[in-house]
Amino acid sequence: MKIVVTIGGSILVQDNNYKKFEEYAEIISQMNNEHKLYVVVGGGKPARDYISMARGLGASEALCDDIGIDVTRLNARLLITAMSEIAYPEVPHNFAEALEYSESGKLVVMGGTEPAHSTDAVGSILAEFVGADLIINATSVDGLYDKDPHKNSDAVKIDEITASRMMELLSNKDTKAGTYEFFDHTAIGIIKRSRIKTVIVDGTIPENLYKAVFEKIGTIILPE
Ligand code: UTP
Repeated sequence: MKIVVTIGGSILVQDNNYKKFEEYAEIISQMNNEHKLYVVVGGGKPARDYISMARGLGASEALCDDIGIDVTRLNARLLITAMSEIAYPEVPHNFAEALEYSESGKLVVMGGTEPAHSTDAVGSILAEFVGADLIINATSVDGLYDKDPHKNSDAVKIDEITASRMMELLSNKDTKAGTYEFFDHTAIGIIKRSRIKTVIVDGTIPENLYKAVFEKIGTIILPE
């Protein structure tokens, strides 16, 4: 199977601890023996911190996005470092480079590409380019909830949702640099148009990447 894995920066970068990078490198390496994997890494708190400083300095939203992209690429470099031989040593800056690097047979790890979306969108566009069968989105919650579960104790988890319904749910969300909510619009639109099955899982447990291939976990986005 061809699988694009997107890993939220908030999962990988916690208290400047490198261990999560090692844990993810291990799981991804194992999965890459059975499947063809492509990995996209998010920015997490460091990206938000840099964006906030840039905004304070009067940067435009596009420049703030660009600075966020730089941070996602730094995280990608750390994951590449943790994967050593298995990963292609460079971070592609765009999809053409991603496809070119993938020709080497090595696993490609990338961050952001251009302003105005998050790495969720990068993952879905990459999935279109490579003809992926599945996108696994590792995030800091165990799936999609009807409200933010970090803020609302009565939030209810949604096990399955169509891409169309999810677009409606996310339609009022913020789209400023550093605040591309739970799953960005561009990403959902692409999942819908190219009918790519997508699973959102709790990425704080790296083994969930495995499970997402065979089991019903997290939230499954049905490409309808
Ligand atoms: P993330 O993909 O990590 O964004 O990229 P996010 O959804 O805000 O953060 P998580 O999921 O909680 O980790 C960090 C920031 O980098 C910029 C955006 O400003 C984004 O918020 N970015 C990233 C882009 O502008 N384009 C990209 O392709 C990727």
